[in-house]
Amino acid sequence: VSSLKEGDLKGKRVFVRVDLNVPLDDTFKITDDTRIRAAVPTIKYLMSNGAIVILSSHLGRPKGVTPKYSLKPLVPRLSELLGLEVKMASDCIGTEVEKLVAETPEGGVLLLENVRFYKEEEKNDPEFAKKLASLADLYVNDAFGTAHRAHASTEGVAKHLKPSVAGFLMQKELDYLVGAVSNPKKPFAAIVGGSKVSSKIGVIESLLEKVDVLVLGGGMIFTFYKAQGLAVGSSLVEEDKLDLATSLLEKAKSKGVSLLLPSDVVIADKFAPDANCKVVPASSIPDGWMGLDIGPDSIKSFSEALDATKTIIWNGPMGVFEFEKFAAGTEAIAKKLAELSGKGVTTIIGGGDSVAAVEKAGLADKMSHISTGGGASLELLEGKTLPGVLALDDA
Ligand code: 3PG
Repeated sequence: VSSLKEGDLKGKRVFVRVDLNVPLDDTFKITDDTRIRAAVPTIKYLMSNGAIVILSSHLGRPKGVTPKYSLKPLVPRLSELLGLEVKMASDCIGTEVEKLVAETPEGGVLLLENVRFYKEEEKNDPEFAKKLASLADLYVNDAFGTAHRAHASTEGVAKHLKPSVAGFLMQKELDYLVGAVSNPKKPFAAIVGGSKVSSKIGVIESLLEKVDVLVLGGGMIFTFYKAQGLAVGSSLVEEDKLDLATSLLEKAKSKGVSLLLPSDVVIADKFAPDANCKVVPASSIPDGWMGLDIGPDSIKSFSEALDATKTIIWNGPMGVFEFEKFAAGTEAIAKKLAELSGKGVTTIIGGGDSVAAVEKAGLADKMSHISTGGGASLELLEGKTLPGVLALDDA
């Protein structure tokens, strides 16, 4: 896709779709500002090139105008990071907003109110998209986390503004999640975890076409064990996915992909942070016990396999890392990737829980790339194209 060029910007009103959908606590305090920080480079670039910056985002999934989902609590942090006072509009379209845009100086930033306060946003209503577009001269989409949604501010608006280009965050996400994944330095390994195989089928199938090594962890492994005839106790199993698990194992074999399942697991007598736990071989999970993490032998063999690779993509935790007793597997993988990153291996953390785990371990800045998208990065890894990207020039 096309990206930002200096010449286009001076005095131009730029509609910038960002993803400022950050978590807030009950007192409207931001509990993780990653997405705000990730939006800063593009905004600063626009500011310093004399653009009039109009920021648009959603927050949560409001049904109509809902004060609880206002973007107002984000203004102080955004202003602090940008080093200027960000003005906030109480709406995202209409004459009052037009007036505020007209008052914004070159290099100034105006934040529009939550674009999802209008149901027309998610419906990608053409008239609504036109109204948003009428505020600006050109369009920058930097909202990677929302690029899998064909909404008015992520897709419709691009039809009315030329140029329509990708911001720096969007570009970086695509460079890693599409570029590095389709043209990896080899050997290429994927680590896929998470509780359910059903939510990762597309990702596993797509990655099997590309990787040399596929490491599986998380709750989904028990569906694979059961498919192989092992006793899994009361571990989580998706009974209707047993055939699928078998066919994924066969596919890996036919593609010459080395597929690694954990050889040992940490089992618990209940699903709770204070459960009794012990390590057993994967082949001997007793009745009444459930697997909640990978064991030390698995950590060792996974680490050895990863040592030989040049590119690693990780999506999904190895165990129930929210509970301290079952966090070791996920933490060990995070540490291994940080170590390999330091040795020049490209390490990509694709979305959601694995990002949270890497952040919890304090290793976020050690990785080559940490995605700001959950659903969006999953869809990219499944090999899908994102409507918010397709709408941009030269997509
Ligand atoms: C996300 O948090 O994944 C994005 O901001 C998209 O939000 P949505 O799932 O409500 O569309």
